[in-house]
Amino acid sequence: MKELPIGFIDSGFGGLTVVKQSLKQLPNESIIYLGDSARCPYGPRSLEEVKEFIWQLTRFLLNKGIKMLVIACNTGTAAALSELREQLSIPVIGVIHAGSRAAIKETQNQRIGIIGTEGTIKSNLYEKVILEKADSLKVMSVPVPEFVAIVEENKINDPETEIIVKKRLNIFKEKDVDTLVLGCTHYPIMKKVIGEYMGEEVRLIDSGVETINEVSTMLDYYNISRSAHDAKNRPATIEVYTTGEEDKFAEVATTWLNMPNLTIKKCEIEGDQVVEAINRES
Ligand code: DGL
Repeated sequence: MKELPIGFIDSGFGGLTVVKQSLKQLPNESIIYLGDSARCPYGPRSLEEVKEFIWQLTRFLLNKGIKMLVIACNTGTAAALSELREQLSIPVIGVIHAGSRAAIKETQNQRIGIIGTEGTIKSNLYEKVILEKADSLKVMSVPVPEFVAIVEENKINDPETEIIVKKRLNIFKEKDVDTLVLGCTHYPIMKKVIGEYMGEEVRLIDSGVETINEVSTMLDYYNISRSAHDAKNRPATIEVYTTGEEDKFAEVATTWLNMPNLTIKKCEIEGDQVVEAINRES
C-alpha cells in the first residue's frame, strides 16, 4: 500500500500548486496528477456537475492505484469531499479545511478575506468551517473567477493582470482584512502580483501549503509514508495527465514545478469516463 502514489485532481493547472508543496515537504512520495483542463473552469458550473466530474477523475486515478486522494481544487472540495470520504476506502483530503484552520491561526485583527471561484464562494464552505471553529471572526468572501482564466491562459505577467487584481481585491483593503485566503488552487500561481498589491501586512494563505501539512499528518497516522530509505531503493515518480492540450499544459507545469523534462500524458473524456489517450506513435 505505502508504495502506491498519492493522487491529485483539479480542474486544470491549479492543483499543481499543491503538488509543488508535496514535492517539497514529501519528496519520497510518488505522485499521479490529473488536471481536467478540457472542462476548466469548474467555478461557474453547478456543484452537482462538478461532483460528477470529480467522480470521473477519481475513478481514473483509482484504476491506476493510489493510496490517498487529494482533491486539489476548492470547487471540487466544496462539491464532492463529503461524498468521496463516505464512499472511498482510502483517505480523501480536500483543500478547504486546511486553509480555514491556517486563516484562523494567522489573523490578528479577526478579519479574514476569502477569494475563490463562484462555486466555492456560493457553497459558503470556508465561512462555515471558520465560523464553526471561531464565531467571533469576521469573514468576507468574494468570487474572483477572472484569476482562473489568467492562470489557464498563462497571462500572469501581462500588465492587464495588475489592473484586474487591483480592481477585484480593493474591497479587502477597504475592509481592513489582515488575512486573505487564496481559496482556489490556481491563485498561488499569481501570489506575487496579489502579494504586491495587498502589501506585506496582509498574510496570504496558500491552501496548497496547508493541505500538504495535513497529507503528511495523515500518511503518518495511517502508517503509509515512504521513507528516504524506501525512496533510495525505488525512487519516487511523478506522472501528470491532462484532458486538455498536452503542450499547453506542459508549458505551465514544467515552469511551475521547475521540471523541464516532465512529460504530460493525454486523457480523453468518453461519455462519463476519463480514459488514457492511445499513444499515437505506437
Ligand atoms: N482550481 C480550482 C479551485 O481551487 C478551480 C478553478 C476553476 O476551475 O474554476 O477551485
